[in-house]
Amino acid sequence: MAPKARVPVRPAPGIEFGYVNTVKAIYPGSFDPVTNGHLDLITRGSKIFDHLVVGILQNSAKNPLFTVAERVEMLTEALAGFKNVSVASFEGLLVDFAHEQSAQAIMRGIRAISDYEYELQMALMNRRLRPDLETIFLMPDGKYSFVSSRLVKEVFTLGGSIEGLVPQFVIDRLKARMPNGHH
Ligand code: PNS
Repeated sequence: MAPKARVPVRPAPGIEFGYVNTVKAIYPGSFDPVTNGHLDLITRGSKIFDHLVVGILQNSAKNPLFTVAERVEMLTEALAGFKNVSVASFEGLLVDFAHEQSAQAIMRGIRAISDYEYELQMALMNRRLRPDLETIFLMPDGKYSFVSSRLVKEVFTLGGSIEGLVPQFVIDRLKARMPNGHH
């Protein structure tokens, strides 16, 4: 392949010449457990952002099925192939975590219009807390528009198939967690 031509670039006003602007984004959530919808979004985000940090919320008030350590493990396994995606957990305000991480953006997924109201509320509250942090919404593939961690857990607990909705190792962990279930 011929080498790429070096094109002189005139920087945008306010941007110093010779510097490249990189964007780091946080993708926050409960991920209890990670679904193929989350992974679809992470794949999309990893192509747009220079670095994406999956931020797992440590929140016992939500009564999670998996511990934070288990969720970190599952996401780390699922994301092993991504060079620019890392996994971390956080407690407290998301905007503070984003600041600690020197991130410029928050990425969130919107599946349907029903997600929008809650997401808009959070985005505007986060903007009020930190005006320079942008929330960016991406849409997952339509085939995941009905998939949520909550429904995955409910369907699995009641004996329904969740094949294709979560990675196989999540199914294995759910089976190990609920050996007396319908499976
Ligand atoms: O996967 P979820 O449960 O929809 O994710 C919700 C999450 C983690 C994005 C939200 O609960 C959050 O940001 N929590 C951290 C505490 C915080 O900053 N709250 C104010 C949000 S406006």
